[in-house]
Amino acid sequence: MKFLLSIIFICLNLFANEFVKSNTCKGCHPIIYGEFYESSHRKSSTFEDPIHKAMWDLHPDKKKESYTCAKCHTPTDLELLTKLKENKPALPKENEVQTQEAISCAYCHGIKDIEEHAKMNENIVTLKDKVFYSANENLRNEKNKEFKDEITLFGMMKKKSGSPFHKIDYSNKNFYTGKMCLGCHSHLQNDNNFDLCRVDSKEAKEDEETNCITCHMPKVKGTATSIKITKTHRFHGFASASKNQDLLAKYIKIKFKQKKEFFEISIKNEASHNLFLQPLRVAQLKVNVLRGKKTINQETKSFVRIIGKDGKATMPWLANSEIKNNMIKANERRVIKYDFKLQENDKVEVVFGYYKVNPKVVKKLKLENNKEATEFNILKSEFFHSK
Ligand code: HEC
Ligand code: HEC
Ligand code: HEC
Ligand code: HEC
Ligand code: HEC
Repeated sequence: MKFLLSIIFICLNLFANEFVKSNTCKGCHPIIYGEFYESSHRKSSTFEDPIHKAMWDLHPDKKKESYTCAKCHTPTDLELLTKLKENKPALPKENEVQTQEAISCAYCHGIKDIEEHAKMNENIVTLKDKVFYSANENLRNEKNKEFKDEITLFGMMKKKSGSPFHKIDYSNKNFYTGKMCLGCHSHLQNDNNFDLCRVDSKEAKEDEETNCITCHMPKVKGTATSIKITKTHRFHGFASASKNQDLLAKYIKIKFKQKKEFFEISIKNEASHNLFLQPLRVAQLKVNVLRGKKTINQETKSFVRIIGKDGKATMPWLANSEIKNNMIKANERRVIKYDFKLQENDKVEVVFGYYKVNPKVVKKLKLENNKEATEFNILKSEFFHSK
């Protein structure tokens, strides 16, 4: 035990000015680490996310050598953030922090609170003593869970409890409501004080039943630690449309209604935010009528929020207004009418999905050959039979 403690002590000193590497967590949290490694949080730097890089390459801040994206995309790079603060040249370097730790385990579990600001919020993060925040219904008042022997029922058995590597603070409400996500995800304004994106955050701040965490980090099979075995753990791949979509599909409902002269498809968005938030995204509804061996295509409907200036779409840093916004809103049911007379035994094929990058700007961003940027991600596909 003494030996272990001294190792921990050495580590503490070594890492006093940076976050504990996620690799360190891997040994005892292998499943969570594996999911995290494939997630867009681990890959949020210009070196790991080609779409982010493409936008950064065109951004005027690049010429000014000021990687202002760091606050959300690589908040673990303390060296870079210090330079930004001091108005010194601050461009990301291809190092371990940028490629492996962009938004790391220790960073997220160190978010103490969120400070609210007009342009963007700010995470207040603790770097102290390897105390990590977490949620556990039964231990809400436990601020400093340590590694110790726990005597179980009638004192018959001794059992280790807690983590030998770190302490756990279960008292941070932000880990129960999803507010801890809102330092980065709440909103971002450009220099024209125009909203590039905004999540309506009322629910995230209050609701413990349904929030960012319950939807995007549902409990899935597999143990949370390799030391204390649990049946499930919170999914750390951060479900989205392009990854592990099956975990989110249940929050999007598609219905079909047949009338004499036409038919209707409705899409219900049960997410507590507008379906897509990033202005690069385009959702599309594709409908085909299958009649015998024939396929009759219906007009594709797009759902977008296009931003720009003087009525024209522009890059985000120039925008000062919405050019178009027919994105499906939080909790909205959108009904789309098709003026097409169905016959008996027709089948209606409905595919709802999205492009990460609006096909109209793919070229401008030089992403024509990038699969992620150009492929159509299917959120949901269903068949309906006409009467
Ligand atoms: C306030 C925090 C914040 C700042 C600052 C920020 N971003 Fe982001 N960015 C996000 C979040 C959160 C997402 C994911 C949003 C989503 O998918 O809806 C994101 C996503 C993106 C995406 C889409 C990535 C993909 O793979 O599809 C691009 C591109 C992007 N950001 C570019 C930038 C650039 C360039 C900068 C700096 C000039 C920047 N961002 C600054 C929070 C931020
Ligand atoms: C030496 C093994 C070990 C290492 C290394 C380790 N952990 Fe843990 N961790 C544990 C154990 C064991 C538990 C379960 C404690 C309990 O529930 O009694 C745990 C629990 C947690 C919890 C809380 C889970 C809950 O009960 O809700 C979080 C959060 C956490 N660890 C984060 C991390 C992070 C982040 C790292 C890396 C910086 C890390 N751990 C490194 C062993 C470790
Ligand atoms: C430190 C800032 C930060 C925090 C905290 C954070 N995120 Fe993110 N998140 C980002 C950024 C930046 C991206 C985009 C990364 C990229 O693709 O370049 C992102 C991407 C995502 C995506 C994927 C979007 C897509 O289209 O693939 C989801 C889902 C997500 N975050 C959910 C959450 C949830 C839920 C929480 C809270 C538990 C959270 N995030 C906490 C910054 C953050
Ligand atoms: C984007 C933020 C974010 C990142 C990155 C992140 N976590 Fe978590 N983690 C959370 C949230 C939110 C929860 C759910 C609330 C809670 O139990 O703490 C959670 C839960 C956990 C739990 C408890 C699991 C359970 O089933 O109760 C452990 C253990 C954990 N995280 C470890 C890690 C490790 C190890 C890494 C890196 C490999 C990591 N986390 C990366 C936000 C994050
Ligand atoms: C009721 C479930 C639910 C809740 C609550 C929820 N989401 Fe979502 N979220 C979804 C669904 C469904 C989608 C859209 C489709 C998809 O990506 O599969 C989505 C998409 C996203 C995306 C990707 C959007 C894009 O433009 O690429 C991000 C980022 C995200 N959510 C973050 C959050 C954050 C942060 C919160 C908390 C404020 C939150 N979500 C709350 C279900 C939910």
